[in-house]
Order: sequence, then C-alpha cells, then structure tokens
Amino acid sequence: MNSIKHVAIIMDGNGRWGLKHRKSRNLGHKEGLKTVERIIKATIKNKIKHLTLYAFSTENWRRPKKEIDFLFNLLEDFLLNKINEFNQQNIKLKIIGKKRFSKKINNLLNNSEKKTYNNKKLQINLALNYGSKSELVHSFLAIIKNKKYINERNISKYLFTKNIPDPDLLIRTGNTQRLSNFLLWQLAYSEIFFEKKLWPDFSEKDYNIILKKFKKIKRNYGNI
Ligand code: IPE
Ligand code: IPE
Ligand code: MG
Repeated sequence: MNSIKHVAIIMDGNGRWGLKHRKSRNLGHKEGLKTVERIIKATIKNKIKHLTLYAFSTENWRRPKKEIDFLFNLLEDFLLNKINEFNQQNIKLKIIGKKRFSKKINNLLNNSEKKTYNNKKLQINLALNYGSKSELVHSFLAIIKNKKYINERNISKYLFTKNIPDPDLLIRTGNTQRLSNFLLWQLAYSEIFFEKKLWPDFSEKDYNIILKKFKKIKRNYGNI
C-alpha cells in the first residue's frame, strides 16, 4: 500500500455550482469554502502531512473585477475567522505564489504564516496568484543569481515548494481534465484523479474513495 505524504487539489467548479443552484457564481465560491473545511478535516484524519490547494491562479486575474474582489474578501474573512482555530489544531499555513495583493491582504497572509510557522500536524500550502511557469522562471533566475548549477535538485530548491515533498496525488474536481498551470514540475510523477463532481459537492466520502484507490496503485517510476 502506498503511503500518502502530500495531496494537491485543483478546486474547480465553484462558479458552475453557484450558477446551477443560486444563479450566482460568487455563491458557489462561498459554498466551496465548506468543502475546504471538510477536506482539511479529512486530511488530518488520514494523517496526511501536506495539503496543497489551488485557490487563485495567475490567469484568474482575467476574471471580472467583481468576482476577483469577492474572492479576496472571502479569503480575508476565512483567514480572520479560522487562523486561530488552525493554530490550535497545529496546522501550518504556507502561501505559494507571488504575494502581490493589497497591503491588507499581504499583511494578513504574512501574519497567518508567521503565527502558524512552527505547527507540525498538517501543512496547508495555499496557492494564490500561483502559476507554475512563472514559478519555474523564478527558480531559474534565483539559481543564476546565486551562482548555482542548474540541476534538478537546485530547480526544486528554488521553487515556492522548497522542502515540500512532491504531491503523491493530484485531484481536480469540476469535470475538466487539464492542469491549468499548476505544479508542472512537482507533478511529474503524481497520480492524477479527475473528479466529475463540482468542488462544492465534493464530499469526505468522495475524497476517501480516491485516497483508497491511490493506495492500491502500482507506482513504477519507470521500473517494471
Ligand atoms: C474554481 O472554481 C475556483 C477559482 C478558480 C477561484 P471556478 O470559479 O473556476 O468554477 P467554474 O470552473 O467556473 O465552475
Ligand atoms: C484552475 O481553475 C485554478 C483554480 C482552481 C484556482 P480555472 O477554472 O481557473 O481553470 P481553467 O481556466 O478552466 O483552466
Ligand atoms: Mg474553473
């Protein structure tokens, strides 16, 4: 049976869920936060150490301002409400992506990271303004600046995910089969699960079914 150190998730389908149920994409985003809480709890129950959640991509800036503002207000409320609880539960929060937000959001993110820095039970890597291609460019530039060799070890070392094991599995909800510029380097040997359900409908049971399937996969890494 494969052990699981790291689960990465592309949380897709909020907008469609909102349109279907409430005629508003934004209400789908709000509903999606309930799934975030559910999946965090289930990840802890499964004794998994790393959970990476794709929350906002570098491409998501193309969306209407109203939706972007709603998303960042939601993030702000969520962190303000939850960060103490996370801290009590020994959860560490790390942001991956370039922190180029309003001063208020940047401060909130930095403070949330600082507050939970020494926590050990679960590390949540929240991908915000994250794009894998830009992360790779950033890594190469840092290698050159530090006069290091370009090799696999150094490329990994200068990514936002430094010191985080590569994901064992990737889940994308929302019935779409693409990576959308997410962790292109880190997912090189991950098992990928495309889930038909929209993110707000994704349950603990659905999650556990995927984890169970993952555990039984024969991972070859090129071997036989
Ligand atoms: C994913 O849900 C969440 C974000 C990108 C913020 P979407 O908003 O992409 O939902 P769909 O894919 O349009 O349904
Ligand atoms: C990927 O979803 C990004 C996040 C879940 C944050 P998108 O909905 O933005 O992806 P595309 O645009 O359909 O590829
Ligand atoms: Mg989408």
